[in-house]
Amino acid sequence: MERRKRWLGFAAFLCLVAAIGAREIRVRPKDDGPVFNHTLATILVEYASAVYMSDLTELFTWTCPRCEGLTKGFEVVELIVDVQNCLQAFVGVAGDLNSIVIAFRGTQEHSIQNWIEDLFWKQLDIQYPGMPSAMVHRGFYYAYHNTTIRPAILSAIERAKYMYGVENIMITGHSMGGAMASFCGLDLAVNCGERNIQVLTFGQPRIGNAAFASYYSQLVPNTIRVTNGHDLVPHLPPYIPRLPQRTYHHFPREVWLYDVELGSSVYPSEKICDESGEDPSCSRSVTGNSLSDHLTYYGVELFAATWGSCSIVWDPRWTEYGSKDIRGNILLSKNNAESSLKRPSASGAKLDIV
Ligand SMILES: *[C@@H]1O[C@H](CO)[C@@H](O)[C@H](O)[C@H]1NC(C)=O
Ligand SMILES: *[C@@H]1O[C@H](CO)[C@@H](O)[C@H](O)[C@H]1NC(C)=O
Repeated sequence: MERRKRWLGFAAFLCLVAAIGAREIRVRPKDDGPVFNHTLATILVEYASAVYMSDLTELFTWTCPRCEGLTKGFEVVELIVDVQNCLQAFVGVAGDLNSIVIAFRGTQEHSIQNWIEDLFWKQLDIQYPGMPSAMVHRGFYYAYHNTTIRPAILSAIERAKYMYGVENIMITGHSMGGAMASFCGLDLAVNCGERNIQVLTFGQPRIGNAAFASYYSQLVPNTIRVTNGHDLVPHLPPYIPRLPQRTYHHFPREVWLYDVELGSSVYPSEKICDESGEDPSCSRSVTGNSLSDHLTYYGVELFAATWGSCSIVWDPRWTEYGSKDIRGNILLSKNNAESSLKRPSASGAKLDIV
């Protein structure tokens, strides 16, 4: 009961922030951003959904229930499970997209409500290296930069390029996974000299201030943040237009999914938003008060089967491909271009980590 009250109070506070936002004076941005490709978004959302699956064997062999459909034929090169920090990501090659695809899972810790409530209070507490006055949140930054995730991804990209001869890199993720996808894209552009990077995230929170957003949009111009209806996460941590330099600020370009009602029919629509990152006529034109809008994009579920635990399932017979570090973090890697791995026939042993 107490919890519910807190949650309602929190939703009310969000409305307040949205109301302040409505009075902002709009600066006309110039329109030369990335081209939004709807088909690509509907493909990448399936990767962002699959990375939530907890059966590592099915994920590694791309035979999971969410590995059908538009992502069929994907070749996983590396599956990374940072058990210590409850993070999951994969790197692989999509032949039909002629691209490496990297996907990050959203948060799995505690309840989603707790995680979202905490988002409200996230401080801009560290400076992004080499970018004066660009401030970001420590938690998002370290989830990518100070875990097993980054080194495993960088090495997998090199292997994928070598094994499959592809150069393009598409990075995706939902929610917290979208925040990590953004940091990954920026890292590859700034520190690895990658040029063919595309970032497309779903329902991601804000990750830095206006100065950061400005650097980001110049360095990773081919970035799309898809937001959905009243999804509350893109509204967080709050942006306060009267304090544009002090608060969080999204980078462009947002694409907002919303419903157009015509008579008794409802048509799903996409709005390509402006170059400011904080287009007041996109998701900011509505109140961020929906959890269900956060959990489904383009009709695709973006959450795990079991919330609130970091349980994984894997088959110890995959040790040929897998390794565990001293902290229990798991890496499943492909080192050559074997395209059809044989699956062990019996079902996998279960390993629960909470
Ligand atoms: C959009 O993406 C799809 C899938 O990658 C591709 O086949 C199509 O050519 C793209 N469309 C445009 C206009 O670039
Ligand atoms: C970075 O990771 C190490 C090992 O997990 C941890 O001990 C350390 O506190 C982390 N540093 C920060 C600043 O979070």
